[in-house]
Amino acid sequence: MAIERTFSIIKPDAVAKNVIGQIYSRFESNGLKIIAARMTQLSRAEAEQFYAVHRERPFFKDLVDFMISGPVMVQVLEGDDAIRKNRELMGATDPQKAEKGTIRADFADSIDANAVHGSDGPETAAVEIASFFPALAIYSR
Ligand code: PPS
Repeated sequence: MAIERTFSIIKPDAVAKNVIGQIYSRFESNGLKIIAARMTQLSRAEAEQFYAVHRERPFFKDLVDFMISGPVMVQVLEGDDAIRKNRELMGATDPQKAEKGTIRADFADSIDANAVHGSDGPETAAVEIASFFPALAIYSR
């Protein structure tokens, strides 16, 4: 399997719970390397742009309100099959349906506040990474 990069967000609920380190440990112990990271506060415009594909969904406004409710950690993860592996570690969107031992099962409370985001495919990963990190801010070797 090829070395890939994926984009990850630790959402405001997980930042507020002080579990950034525990989530990073899951990435690292499963072969995903953090090659860029920063904490940021998304503006409404940034969150709306990030989730633009869901603009027509009934939960869109709630999702944007939640994503701007506090700081988030954004990172680029690199590793073998990184996109699929990260989504497997995250678990299902709804934490009630997420498998035991996944990040969402262990750290998320609801589908509205579900701890983490991970890119769903190579094209999305490339766009999401580029919108948060200039190439020079990514350190991989
Ligand atoms: S889909 O149909 O597969 O695209 O949907 P999904 O990936 O499950 O969800 C897309 C993003 O919307 C968030 N989401 C919600 N937010 C608030 N309320 C409800 N009901 C809800 N359902 C889904 C979900 O967490 C996804 O966000 P990210 O950040 O990509 O995980």
